[in-house]
Amino acid sequence: MTSSDQIMHSLERFGALCADPAPLIYQRLFAQHPEFEDLFAMDSDGGVRGSMLTTCFECIIGLAEGSQLPRFELQSARLSHQGYGVPEARLDDMFTIIRDTCRDTLAGEWTPAMDTAWAEILSEIASMNHAPA
Ligand code: HEM
Repeated sequence: MTSSDQIMHSLERFGALCADPAPLIYQRLFAQHPEFEDLFAMDSDGGVRGSMLTTCFECIIGLAEGSQLPRFELQSARLSHQGYGVPEARLDDMFTIIRDTCRDTLAGEWTPAMDTAWAEILSEIASMNHAPA
């Protein structure tokens, strides 16, 4: 299996084991960064959180498939999130939290090859997020 297959397989298993990962992911985000919870106070039905998470998954899948679109998606998120009061350097944390939640959900099914593939993709995302403007 290629690295991209490892990411896709881990996400497929994540989806199969956990119908709605949003609560787990946002719980983890707010545990690590309590200051971010208030930013979603107006999101009473979880719609914004859901749509943000969908965009994050699209970025991960796009990168795994070799698409250039996530680069633009991340660039746009860097700008929009400055306006929300989220520092650029914190955007990466969302992807790390998605990986950690996926790994914990897969538990015994998580493999060293998945771990390596995710480490690669997280470092690719970090290099994009911190690229000079
Ligand atoms: C720790 C990291 C992050 C925090 C704290 C955060 C916070 C937020 C907040 C507070 C909003 C709602 C703004 C509003 O409508 O008032 C938002 C929206 C959004 N975020 Fe994030 N964000 C993070 C990471 C990301 C990442 C990595 C992406 C994707 C590349 C992303 C994509 C989006 C999108 C697309 C929306 C708009 C959703 C919609 O209204 O439909 N966010 N984010």
